[in-house]
Amino acid sequence: MKIQIINGPNLNLLGVREKSIYGDSDFNTYLETLKARFPAHEISYYQSNVEGELINKLHEIGFSYDGIVFNAGAYTHTSIAIADAIAAINTTVIEVHISNVHKREEFRHTSMIAASCKGVIAGFGLDSYRLAIENIIA
Ligand code: DQA
Repeated sequence: MKIQIINGPNLNLLGVREKSIYGDSDFNTYLETLKARFPAHEISYYQSNVEGELINKLHEIGFSYDGIVFNAGAYTHTSIAIADAIAAINTTVIEVHISNVHKREEFRHTSMIAASCKGVIAGFGLDSYRLAIENIIA
């Protein structure tokens, strides 16, 4: 299967940023363990801090890939444009979050994109991404 992981704004700073919330592993190190765990599947990775670039990526791969694991970062809580992009494509999208957004500030309790996604996985640290991939390949 072809699986795309997309990370949104500030997730390029994993391992540096607010370690008590997001942990001390950078994403590229974690990505290697994920790829090793699913050797039969093609796992691609894309990160951008720019809303329009995330939308372009969804358009680019959203008609040919088998699944998308998407952490939209703070755009989760604000972006109708990203919600529309997810609704526009054919590929199933799973919304993921490293932290349990429901335990945090109230503005993080709302997701603009969840209704366009197959489901939401939040609060399992980086393991949220593995859980989403398990669902895509199941
Ligand atoms: C996050 C949660 C968001 O509220 C926050 O803006 C992020 C990261 C998470 O993975 O826990 O950037 O998506």
